[in-house]
Amino acid sequence: MPSKKGPVVKVEKDKGQQVLERLKEEDRLDGDRMIEQRGSKLIIPVKEGDEEDILEKSEDKSTPFQKIQSKVDIAEVLKEKLPERWERVGDILLIKLPEVFDGKKNHIGKVYAEVLGMKSVLIQGGITGTKREPEVELIYGEETETVHLENGIKYKLDVAELMFSSGNIDERVLMAGVPGEGETIVDMFAGIGYFTLPMAVHSKPENIYSLEINEVAYGYLNENIELNGVQETVETWNGDNREFAKSRIADRVVMGYLHDTWKFLPKAVELLDGEGVIHYHTRAADVNFPGQVERELAENIGKDFEITEIRKIKSYAPHVFHVVADVDVF
Ligand SMILES: C[S@@+](CC[C@H](N)C(=O)[O-])C[C@H]1O[C@@H](n2cnc3c(N)ncnc32)[C@H](O)[C@@H]1O
Repeated sequence: MPSKKGPVVKVEKDKGQQVLERLKEEDRLDGDRMIEQRGSKLIIPVKEGDEEDILEKSEDKSTPFQKIQSKVDIAEVLKEKLPERWERVGDILLIKLPEVFDGKKNHIGKVYAEVLGMKSVLIQGGITGTKREPEVELIYGEETETVHLENGIKYKLDVAELMFSSGNIDERVLMAGVPGEGETIVDMFAGIGYFTLPMAVHSKPENIYSLEINEVAYGYLNENIELNGVQETVETWNGDNREFAKSRIADRVVMGYLHDTWKFLPKAVELLDGEGVIHYHTRAADVNFPGQVERELAENIGKDFEITEIRKIKSYAPHVFHVVADVDVF
């Protein structure tokens, strides 16, 4: 990856998520350059301005939203209810719009698109089923396919058909630097390449097997491998990962899925041939953390293991977190 130079924001790691989200909302992240960790700091590439300027402005929550409020043609009292947060995936905007705006949604979509410079706007509902398909409604623009740039990686996807979880940015950045040189990795729930791509682009694994059941996601996964030039490293496989027959023993297995992930642990151990590292994603209620995760692992690994690190990566529901455990199996 050529290390282009440009302005950066340096923040303590524990503030990283907050600043990243703010910079992303304001479209200030320079996705062409790589986010780096240096000691306790996260070095985040930004598009323009100096560090203080950006940090100061990123504290100022009101600017783009104020513009939206002033341009939207609705009763003043309702303006408070307009969504103040949004998600940008490439040049597409996702918002959660209360039903009270139903009669005005196309107009509201247009204003958000104009103020934030987006080609399309979608109302975001839930994510359903094992294939993690989003429920969305297009309220402005025509296209729902985009290329999202993050940490030097290009992620192409159709946001009407697939999810892109911006809240997992820290984990994607972390995973970019995790694999050791020459490793064989299996990404059991590859999606469009959320973890496969940063690992393949920024580390030097020997090979990554990326398994994906959803055919639409699988199509984009293959496109993204080409877009990012990692065809030499990544091999893809379409189907239920429990039916994947390994041709090489894995050193590391990534399990980026949140629904009864424990059911897939025996397959992960099989892929490792009983020895290696698992990055285990699950949901855990605050009151049961980390005990529940330890139990899920103990009941399903069937081997000795050690949790080397366990982290909450984002809120999933009130008092419930998306959690990742790094597990050494031996
Ligand atoms: C939730 S997505 C990955 C999200 C990603 N970790 C992120 O950071 O946004 C999980 C993917 O696993 C796929 N999947 C679910 N069950 C599977 C299975 N049994 N075998 C292979 N892929 C599966 C889904 O289709 C989906 O694309």
